[in-house]
Amino acid sequence: MTTDTTGTAARDGDPRPGAPADSPFVRACRREPVPHTPVWFMRQAGRSLPEYREIRANVGMLESCRRPDLVAEITLQPVRRHGVDAAILFSDIVVPVAAAGVDLDIVAGTGPVVSEPVRTAEDVERIRPIGRDDVAYVDEAVRLLVAELGATPLIGFAGAPFTLASYLVEGGPSRTHAKTKALMYGQPELWHALCARLAEVTLSFLRVQIEAGVSAVQLFDSWAGALSEADYRRYVLPHSATVLSGLADAGVPRIHFGVGTAELLGAMGEAGADVVGVDWRTPLDVATRRIGLHRAVQGNLDPTVLLAPWSVVETEVRRIVEQGRAAPGHVFNLGHGVLPETDPEVLTRVVALVHEVSARRAEQG
Ligand code: CP3
Repeated sequence: MTTDTTGTAARDGDPRPGAPADSPFVRACRREPVPHTPVWFMRQAGRSLPEYREIRANVGMLESCRRPDLVAEITLQPVRRHGVDAAILFSDIVVPVAAAGVDLDIVAGTGPVVSEPVRTAEDVERIRPIGRDDVAYVDEAVRLLVAELGATPLIGFAGAPFTLASYLVEGGPSRTHAKTKALMYGQPELWHALCARLAEVTLSFLRVQIEAGVSAVQLFDSWAGALSEADYRRYVLPHSATVLSGLADAGVPRIHFGVGTAELLGAMGEAGADVVGVDWRTPLDVATRRIGLHRAVQGNLDPTVLLAPWSVVETEVRRIVEQGRAAPGHVFNLGHGVLPETDPEVLTRVVALVHEVSARRAEQG
């Protein structure tokens, strides 16, 4: 296995100037001083970009995730277009689950669909542990991207056990997560076995990405907000902690994100995050009080605000940059992913505005 010099520098905690580990994004994650508030957008690669839709015209979603040349091109598109402070690998949270042997597809307009939803201990046993060779296309895509991106950091990611389990148990997207919760409350042993297996797959998947050179990782527990804090702590946190604490010595910041998680922000930090993602429902100063001053925050513009007139966008961006000052580190982002109908020009303007507003304030001291 080759050793990536950038990754080594990051692990030594002595980043070379101009290396991704010294970028405003990674510095903000580490709660170090930054020249401006760094900004990237969840789902920046894809959806709203015409150049993305063109590339994907005749290629299925899972297939595109398995082609390193396409992954690299799609990942780079928003970096070129918007000048964001970080790239995020183009992939999907179900990619490692498919590599682990689960028969699934990503259906356009619906999302992940699992042909045989998990019901029994045998179903759990069939989810195999994975290694680099099972996801060689991800390893290759990350290496291509790290070489291409230069000083711009690349964020790797994975789905957290609860959110992955919800797709596997429901068989597809769900509003209520009723089958998932029924299994969780009714068969706790099976639930914990499933989440333990998913944590193992997720940890391996993130390690492959880190070995290949990503500068940070984000664990998406998008649907964890469906749970009370007590249930989150009992049924979910230990498994997400397996993943996050398993990466504690990997030398890259760990971001932990979910939607509707106002009541869970403290617990999601405790699961082992360096940065906690916050949706638009909780102002960042309030979120910081819940999370504590030993972790950075990421967020939290409502993605629908990007559909409003520019004066509204501008007011909201300024408010969020200001409230983010309460945190020991702030990475500007949306509260959830970019909506497909978003005008990409607005995203570009938001990047410029975040940089301008945060840099000017830095000069004033
Ligand atoms: O929407 C697009 O950007 C086009 C490509 C695409 C992705 N996933 C990229 C992706 C498509 C069609 C999917 C399928 C899918 N998978 C959906 C959307 C269904 C639809 O048609 O709208 C969903 C909800 C999933 C499951 C999933 N994937 C979740 C819950 C997450 C975590 C982030 C979130 O939105 O809550 C993902 C991650 C994901 N899917 C990423 C990308 C590029 C990575 C994260 C990122 O870029 O922020």
